[in-house]
Amino acid sequence: MGAYWIEGGVPLRGELAIHGAKNSVLPILAATILTGGCCVLHNCPRISDVETALQILEYLGCKTKREGSTLCIDTYEAVPRPIPVSMTGRMRAAILFMGSLLARFGQAYLAYPGGCALGERPVDLHLLGLRHMGAHCDCTEDCLCCKSSCLEGGTIALPFPSVGATENLLLAATACKGDTVLCNCACEPEIGDLVDFLRCCGAQICGKGSVLQIRGGCSLHGGEFSIMPDRMEAASYLAAGAATKGELTLTHVCPHHLEAVTAVLRKGGCELREGKDYISLRCEQLRAVSPIRTAPYNGFPTDAQAPIMAALASAKGISVIEERIFSNRFLHVPALRKMGARIRASRHYAIIDGVSRLCGAEVEATDLRGGAALVIAALSAQGRSRIGTTEHMERGYEDFAPNLMGLGAKLRME
Ligand code: EPZ
Repeated sequence: MGAYWIEGGVPLRGELAIHGAKNSVLPILAATILTGGCCVLHNCPRISDVETALQILEYLGCKTKREGSTLCIDTYEAVPRPIPVSMTGRMRAAILFMGSLLARFGQAYLAYPGGCALGERPVDLHLLGLRHMGAHCDCTEDCLCCKSSCLEGGTIALPFPSVGATENLLLAATACKGDTVLCNCACEPEIGDLVDFLRCCGAQICGKGSVLQIRGGCSLHGGEFSIMPDRMEAASYLAAGAATKGELTLTHVCPHHLEAVTAVLRKGGCELREGKDYISLRCEQLRAVSPIRTAPYNGFPTDAQAPIMAALASAKGISVIEERIFSNRFLHVPALRKMGARIRASRHYAIIDGVSRLCGAEVEATDLRGGAALVIAALSAQGRSRIGTTEHMERGYEDFAPNLMGLGAKLRME
């Protein structure tokens, strides 16, 4: 298990280029199955979740090649083999192969997906939509099987704007007989990137925001596409800059995608300047912000909750965070308290009473964004910390430790 040793108290300073978005490249890699051809994807991050997705594609008979941040995927020889838990257990996004395999082959078998333990993570909305299209889906506690001789289009209204369910139904709808209208879709920017990729491969998708209309029966072909910037990676580094009273510029970002996060940082007293593709932050002392409520886009993103909480732990005043997306996304609170944070948390609420300085401690990461939060807290703390189980962070942050060291962090990888 990997670990970072961090000597806190050093303000982060400098410039950092943000990588391609994990939560965009993963559904797009699953979508390449639909094309049966060659896809060239630029700006793909080097993170372990992408490696897992590439392993799944190769297991299914596809050819993959990486040249720097460009991935070449040939799915001509793909076959619908059952995907084992040794692969699906590593990341939730494995579930997106269900929609693409079902669309191309009329069948999909995969072990139940794993990923960050953020409370229950059912797949009922995915199955509701696929069954509405005429698929026969069986779901046991360890595997998902879906079959359909012919998927039928229609109108599907999602009870909740689930990101993954929207993506799975988008993939399946491209193969339906007739048009499909998806209502109450998720509107996260990563959905827009997936729609743009599918269009570049010949899909006919119109509509915007929470209603998408997909023309069925279009034969898709390979395409070339560049992945959007990772707004969650950017949010995490902004939180680290605020927590360490630093001054940093993030390039290759889309400030529009981060409005809810930058609004909170501005309320907390950070100076932020933005251009077309950069955000600069300067923070002398973060002030408490309350309330912060996580919500579907364009609300405050749940994936930024833990990093921002870590920064607010040493802000002036009392902040309140309400986590409304996941049922158990405060797993990072005990470790932050071990570092001296004064946080009281229930299932959906956390009250953060800012302290002047956190103290270094030895803690373990529990999930991707929670682990990033512990690193941010350690960077702002007095003294030395050890953050264990850094495999969690390596799932979604390319070169996390080297990037932080490049911004002046006193960090050593164990
Ligand atoms: C995606 O997860 C992201 N993952 C998550 O990012 C992100 O936190 C989440 O969307 C919300 O924005 C990827 O894109 C790979 P959901 P997903 O379906 O699709 C419930 C990260 O840190 N739900 O929108 O799993 C679910 O339990 C990760 O990068 C059902 O009840 O999220 C949750 O409470 C973590 N039934 C809520 O909806 C379903 O069938 C949101 O889930 C599906 C979801």
